[in-house]
Amino acid sequence: MRILKFLNLLILSITFVVSCTKKEDVILVGEYGSLTGDDATFGISTNKGIKMAFDEINAKGGIKGKKIKLITEDNQGKNEETAKVVNRLITQDKVVALLGEVASARSLIAGPIAQKNGIPMVSPSSTNPDVTEKGDFIFRVCFIDPFQGFVMAKFASQNLNVKKAAILRKTGDAYSEGLANVFSTEFKKMGGEIVADLSYQNKDIDFKGQLTEFKAKKPEVIFIPSYYGDVGMIAQQARQLDVKSTLLGGDGWDSPKLHEIGKEAINGSYFSNHYTTESTDPVVVEFIKKFKERYNNETPDGLAALGYDAAKILAEAMERTKDVSSIQIRDELAKTKDFVGVTGKITINEKRNAVKSAVVVQVENEKRKYVTSVAP
Ligand code: PHE
Repeated sequence: MRILKFLNLLILSITFVVSCTKKEDVILVGEYGSLTGDDATFGISTNKGIKMAFDEINAKGGIKGKKIKLITEDNQGKNEETAKVVNRLITQDKVVALLGEVASARSLIAGPIAQKNGIPMVSPSSTNPDVTEKGDFIFRVCFIDPFQGFVMAKFASQNLNVKKAAILRKTGDAYSEGLANVFSTEFKKMGGEIVADLSYQNKDIDFKGQLTEFKAKKPEVIFIPSYYGDVGMIAQQARQLDVKSTLLGGDGWDSPKLHEIGKEAINGSYFSNHYTTESTDPVVVEFIKKFKERYNNETPDGLAALGYDAAKILAEAMERTKDVSSIQIRDELAKTKDFVGVTGKITINEKRNAVKSAVVVQVENEKRKYVTSVAP
């Protein structure tokens, strides 16, 4: 009896020690994103940037002698899946921090879950202002849409010198509606006129009704604050209907698939973005070189760059903590100052947002020609 009890205890304590060391010699970070679904290139690119950043850090010894272990969950670009996978990362995997999402709508779902559980979350690329307002554990390393919308309104009115614009927005999508509203307000403030402001629904594939209406109103530019898949289809149909307006958009256009879907119809259009591959800044040049070496000569898009910056900022914050606890990571993230990123110098302000410049690029097949930068 006694021996049995002793053996039992022994086995119990061994399992305990083993499971403890397993958890304690790595730092678990959770990533959630659209690795599949309608905007899969967002999640895939971001994941590539994050992995490259953490591998570099781990190769140099990790954080306080511990390696970072990334656990990535695919939400298929769906709202319902987002809540599910984020809850799983927090309660089952017990990650100390979260990276994600790209799409504002999905960051808006994950944010309150992270906040409630006291887990810091860094969005690499969600630009809707409400994202970080969900609580003091929510951060981002990109600029926000009030700035991005201003940039495109200013570009239309001052660089392209146009007076008449139309807007095509996706109903109910936080990013699309938010950015459309800012563009409208700013463009009007600059003396422009919005001749039509129309919308479409999630999963729509026929935009001919809206485009026909635009054609009659003759806007010089059409602002389409949507993601690359919709934009590609809209551009195709616009040209089929012989709509001549220049197409403008925001960072949601940034995907290697934009030209694949939009083909020649998308060429000559402009969008605002987080960085330019034409930069001669050594930080950017080095990043692109390493990324291409690692990923089969692929040119990193803005999402890969933001994923890389977000992961590095999180790692530096973890390094500055005493015990890498979630609350200390939160406190250190808030102190991020003058971080030299691929997407610019990053300082987190009191609203947990990054204040940075934006670039405007022009689509030329798979290339994005740098046109101008706008500082905040
Ligand atoms: N800013 C977009 C959003 O908030 C996401 C995005 C960022 C898409 C960068 C592409 C490139 O929804």
